Amino acid sequence: MSRIKNIVARRIWDSRGMPTVEVEVLLENGTTGRGIAPAGASRGANEGWELRDGGTSFGGKDVLNAVAGVNTDIAQALKGMDVTDQQAADLRLIELDGTPNKSRLGANALIATSMAVLHAAANNAHMPLWRYLARGNSVQLPIPQIQIFGGGAHAGRRVDVQDFMVIATGAASFQQALEMTAEVYRHAGLIMQRRGTLMGVADEGGWWPAFAKNEDALDTLVEAIEAAGYVPGQDVSIALDIAASEFYADGKYKLALDETTLDSDGFAALLLQWLDQYPIVSIEDPLAEDDEQGLIAFTRQAGKKVQIVGDDYLVTDAARIKRAAALGACNAVLIKPNQIGTITETHAAVVAAQEAGFRTIVSARSGETEDTTIVHLATGWNAGQLKVGSFARSERMAKWNEGIRLETASDYALTFAGKAVLAGRRGH
Ligand code: PGA
Ligand code: ZN
Repeated sequence: MSRIKNIVARRIWDSRGMPTVEVEVLLENGTTGRGIAPAGASRGANEGWELRDGGTSFGGKDVLNAVAGVNTDIAQALKGMDVTDQQAADLRLIELDGTPNKSRLGANALIATSMAVLHAAANNAHMPLWRYLARGNSVQLPIPQIQIFGGGAHAGRRVDVQDFMVIATGAASFQQALEMTAEVYRHAGLIMQRRGTLMGVADEGGWWPAFAKNEDALDTLVEAIEAAGYVPGQDVSIALDIAASEFYADGKYKLALDETTLDSDGFAALLLQWLDQYPIVSIEDPLAEDDEQGLIAFTRQAGKKVQIVGDDYLVTDAARIKRAAALGACNAVLIKPNQIGTITETHAAVVAAQEAGFRTIVSARSGETEDTTIVHLATGWNAGQLKVGSFARSERMAKWNEGIRLETASDYALTFAGKAVLAGRRGH
């Protein structure tokens, strides 16, 4: 047994230049572990509460209260606990917070602590984190979803759709998936440069899309796949995150770019048309988080054909996933540890999804850091898929590069999940 000797939190800075929480756990034997909280911009209404200080500094986004909570209450409560009992540590955190949405201590403080405990335990076992999590089960490296254009809340709402991504469905390895995506990303940039529509990059490193219509982004994406020398839908396919909650109000979907307002059926019909016209294999939050009937109807219509991912709708919550599976809403779930607040609850969401036959995609947030924990979670829990943002900026590349390290490590031969995971059931 290895006991926790001390816990220290500090304020560090994320990829948007905003404050975030880093936690370090020190064990009695000198081993340490570290975790950093990421931050979302298009958050689900039912996510765990991100504790921010308010006031004037950094637009009210400082995290000094969250940091102080770790250094006092949390450190006191976890000192002396067995680091290998993640569940006990997480239950203590949940109990200590005492609110249904973790608003007293903050889901940001909790997840950074929970991740730090996990890293300390893996370090203590002298194992890479993914292998510590796999517990002897055979697991695979995830297939990546990688953003080419960023829109929605990540690009000043320049286009309505938030993420235009690719999945290298023809790739035989993690490294090959990255190589193929690198070419598509580069060609998309060249095409936009040629047309004078290259405006820099959005929050997750994707090209800032100066398009006149949502369909222009889809057309350009297909063009970029072809220009890179790949067959759309075969070698490289499209994944979308509509993030529809962002432009839904009073039962209507308001598309700023196309200057149209559609009801749930009308918006679903537009998406179904896109599914017919473009090589799309995955679509996230196609309808708003509180348009459950719309999600059920859409899953009935398109669920056999494509992966339908719940992000804002499911918020990494095992109970919500079970409920959605029973209702027939979505067939896959985005897994973001900071949406729920602890590693134990995140793992419960993965297990609930796998038991329900839902596919799982472990995901970063739009506000990120050099922390690469999610790559290990996706691999060790055999999630099958990983979403990190685009193929630029070091907070994104840190994750992709970590995947390469896992694939090429000399002591373990990890195989690659590949496109088979898009077809269905997963787990161990
Ligand atoms: P967020 O968005 O991290 O800004 O909330 C990411 C997503 O919607 O998948
Ligand atoms: Zn999303």
